[in-house]
Amino acid sequence: MSNLKKIKDEFLLKLEKKLSLSEINEIKSNLFGKNGLISSEFKKIGSIVENERKKFASDLNLIKDELQNLINFKIDEIQTEEINKKLEKEKVDITLPERTFIRGKIHPVSQTIDEISSIFSEIGFSVEEGPDVENEYNNFTALNTPDNHPARDMHDTFYLDEKKEKLLRTHTSPVQIRTMLKDKPPFKIIAPGRTYRSDSDQTHSPMFHQVEGLHIDKDINMGHLKGCLNYFIKEFFEVKKIRMRFRPSHFPFTEPSAEVDIGYEIKDGKIVIGEGDKWLEILGCGMVHPNVLKNVKVDPAKFQGYAFGIGIDRLAMLKYGINDLRAFFDCDYRWLNHYGFDPLDVPTNYRGLSR
Ligand code: DAH
Repeated sequence: MSNLKKIKDEFLLKLEKKLSLSEINEIKSNLFGKNGLISSEFKKIGSIVENERKKFASDLNLIKDELQNLINFKIDEIQTEEINKKLEKEKVDITLPERTFIRGKIHPVSQTIDEISSIFSEIGFSVEEGPDVENEYNNFTALNTPDNHPARDMHDTFYLDEKKEKLLRTHTSPVQIRTMLKDKPPFKIIAPGRTYRSDSDQTHSPMFHQVEGLHIDKDINMGHLKGCLNYFIKEFFEVKKIRMRFRPSHFPFTEPSAEVDIGYEIKDGKIVIGEGDKWLEILGCGMVHPNVLKNVKVDPAKFQGYAFGIGIDRLAMLKYGINDLRAFFDCDYRWLNHYGFDPLDVPTNYRGLSR
């Protein structure tokens, strides 16, 4: 029996059995792979004596076609069987009601951060970030905070190690340090983010949000600070006029330091920001202390500027009429559904920072 016939008979017999896909693929490669039996026969054509060559080649082609067709047929058969089995299992019950589609909401704090970033970016501030876990140096020492300052107390600050070297940042002010250490002046940045203090009641949460502002350049003075904050508050509360006052204060990292109050009144049980004879404190600010600039290798004889720190949660509560801070972080879906924002339902002064 010729070699070709032997191959053909042997493999036809093999292919008669019920085979798995991998078994068929194995047969396929035994026959048609690089060193497969059929492939090897093809390589022999050139060395066959001329008067037998034509017949050999034609026989070989016939056998190749026959085996290849059979293999393809078998593969098809198995795949169809698999699909049918799958379909059998995955029956769709078209009588079932559709699943409800729940769309997420944007948390008022995220919304407020976006609004703040958008307002400051209009006047040339870029956004910086810093880590929640800070070192003692950036959070206190570099910010000119003396060793005996009450903010360093364990009752106020969450320390993360015995040596009090690592802590949860108590304010966003360390981002001032990080920004100035990594670049050269001028600086014009805001830094929104989470901050932590050991405090909890209706208006204080151990985790809360602040946005830091820093503007350092040649010839920056308190007039610039006032103008910047006045613009921001009007834009944020969407009012044309705002009553605002600077109250002298003390922060170790600014000199002079001030707290800013804005005017408000209560109308029909609701707080109205802008005019009125009541005052509400909303932020701390001042001219950056020369010691802070020295600590980050900026020459205070050449550069100066202002900084501010605003409580974001407080602003969100005021703007959106939410009166318990703790509800912000309870993760109650019903609350979020009520106070949250639809991604497309944006307030009028929102200029669409991407999220
Ligand atoms: N870091 C201060 C705080 O958390 C707020 C603050 C006050 C930030 C004055 C400043 C500033 O940048 O200049 O209470």
